[in-house]
Amino acid sequence: MGARLDGTVAVVTGASSGIGEATARALAGEGARVALLARRRDRLEALAGELGGEASVHEVDVADDDAVARAIEDVVARHGRLDVLVNNAGYGSMSPATESALSEWRTMVDVNVTGVLATTHAALGHLQRAATGERGIADVVTVSSVAGRKVAGPAVNVYAATKHAVGAFSEALRQELGADHVRVGLVEPGLVRSELTEGGDLARQAEAELELGLMEAADIADAIVYMVTRPRRMAVNEILVRPTEQTR
Ligand SMILES: NC(=O)c1ccc[n+]([C@@H]2O[C@H](COP(=O)([O-])OP(=O)(O)OC[C@H]3O[C@@H](n4cnc5c(N)ncnc54)[C@H](OP(=O)(O)O)[C@@H]3O)[C@@H](O)[C@H]2O)c1
Repeated sequence: MGARLDGTVAVVTGASSGIGEATARALAGEGARVALLARRRDRLEALAGELGGEASVHEVDVADDDAVARAIEDVVARHGRLDVLVNNAGYGSMSPATESALSEWRTMVDVNVTGVLATTHAALGHLQRAATGERGIADVVTVSSVAGRKVAGPAVNVYAATKHAVGAFSEALRQELGADHVRVGLVEPGLVRSELTEGGDLARQAEAELELGLMEAADIADAIVYMVTRPRRMAVNEILVRPTEQTR
C-alpha cells in the first residue's frame, strides 16, 4: 500500500514512550513528517534518529501554555504546515480519594486536560488552514481512555474526570469544526502495556488474569492511523478498544 499521509505533517504529544512513540512510528510509516513533543529530549532524539531526517524534536511540558504555543509555531516554521494533531501525552495515578495527594490530582488535570487544551488551541488555526489545501482535510485525535466513558472503580476518580473532560471538549470541537473539514476523533483504550501501566496495581492484576494479555501500544497506533487515513467524506468520531478479555 502507498504512503497515505505523504506530504502531511503530524504533531504527536507524548512521543517519548508508549502509545505516542508507537503512533509517531506508524504515522511516519504512512509518509507523514512527524513532530515529536514530550519532556524527555533524549528519547525523542533517539526516535527521530530512527525515523530519519524528516522528524523533528520539540522538548516541551504540555502543562506550560506558552511553551506549547512556541513548540507548535516551531513545528509550522520548520515543516510549513500542520495536518494532524495527536493529543496523546497523559498521566494517571490511581488511589482512593482519602489516600491521594492533591498535587497528584493537579498533575493529572494539568497534563490530561490543560495540556490537551493548550496544544489544540495552538494548533487549530494551522489545522483549519491545512484543510483548505489540496488534501482538503485535517485531524485532531485525542487519546482518552475507557475511563473517559465509565468510572470502573473509586480509585480512577480524577483520572476518569480528566478523560471525561476531554471527551466533552472533543465532542464540542467536532460539532464546531466539521464544516471546516477538520475531523475530531477520540480514541478510548482499555489497558495497554506501557510505562503508565508498568507497576500499576490494575495492570499487574489484569496481566496475571488475562490469558491474552494487555494491548500493545502499536494496537492503539493502528486505531489512530485508521482514523486519519479515511476518505475525507468520512470522520471516525470515536474508537473504544479493550483487551479481548477486559470486562470493565
Ligand atoms: N496505558 C494504558 O493502559 C492507557 C489506557 C487508556 C489511555 N491511555 C492514555 O494513553 C496516553 C499515553 O499513555 P501511555 O500508556 O503511552 O503512557 P506512557 O508510556 O507513560 O506515555 C506518556 C507520555 O506522555 C508524556 N507526558 C507526560 N507528561 C507530560 C508533560 N507534562 N508534558 C509533555 N509530555 C508529557 C510522556 O513523556 P515525557 O515523560 O518524556 O514528557 C510520555 O511520552 C495517555 O493519555 C494515557 O492516559 C493509556
